[in-house]
Amino acid sequence: MRKKVTVVGGAGFVGSTTAHRIVDRELADVVIADVMEGVPAGRALDLVESTPIVRSAVDARGISTASGDYGETANSDVIVITAGFPRKPGMSRNDLLQANFEVVKKVVEGVVPHSPNAILIIVTNPLDAMAQAALKISGFPKQRVIGMAGVLDSGRMSTFVAQELGVSVASVHSLVLGGHGDTMVPLPRYTTVASIPLPELLPKERIDAIIQRTRDGGIEIVNLLKTGGAYYAPSAATVEMVEAILKDQKKILPCSVYLEGEYGLNDVFMGVPVKLGAAGVEQIIEVTLTADEKASLHKSAAAVRELVDILGLNG
Ligand code: 2OP
Repeated sequence: MRKKVTVVGGAGFVGSTTAHRIVDRELADVVIADVMEGVPAGRALDLVESTPIVRSAVDARGISTASGDYGETANSDVIVITAGFPRKPGMSRNDLLQANFEVVKKVVEGVVPHSPNAILIIVTNPLDAMAQAALKISGFPKQRVIGMAGVLDSGRMSTFVAQELGVSVASVHSLVLGGHGDTMVPLPRYTTVASIPLPELLPKERIDAIIQRTRDGGIEIVNLLKTGGAYYAPSAATVEMVEAILKDQKKILPCSVYLEGEYGLNDVFMGVPVKLGAAGVEQIIEVTLTADEKASLHKSAAAVRELVDILGLNG
């Protein structure tokens, strides 16, 4: 019996590409849920028609759609929420706060009654605040509400490091903590190339340039596309988390999770290393941080808390 993953916002680029990757990798049956009239059905039919070619066992029986009543999403193991408005050039993720909070609130209220045991993966921006909204609105335990950001930001950092050094991305393992925004905390000390710490391979000014490009990774794509944001890398990062959960991989990945004292932070979602498995967040890993790194993480948490306060979600 295959697992079931619902992608709410599945008509959009991030959502539909997430569904596409899940089907191609035969990870689960997928439900493409969206309020857009007709588009989910078009995405689903197109995806079904690809399955004989890619020889995915997730065929017509495993690909369905749902509209605003979410009945078809019942008993999902994982619910990915990408629904919301994307950025346009000149916008920060925070500019989406109120509009996307309304979307996430409606989605969570809609899906939770049908899948009370699901694990929620939030992708909608501003990510960390939306994840906290999903936690509060769903009433789910904190282990089952996870924000996707660190895998994406770390993937971008690995890309830039690999390009700088002229090496395979497979040799690079980066770690980016903090909020998914300008205050994110890339950690060169915990970034390695074939187990070699990055600071041994690149001078500070080059590392700083890579850190800045990592911070600007999302807006760099928005400015090129002009009509929306990235979706190949965000969907790949999302599916990395989905797979770790569905296959109970116990994989350690940077994810935005609810902290209650870890890293000296409380009542805030922050990107930190976690062990992901069938139960969701099975462990929060506390790495040793220098005073500067810890200060950067706390500054990032304060930026997220400002957004959460605006939404009245604290406490
Ligand atoms: C990004 O950084 C969409 O926030 C996502 O591209």
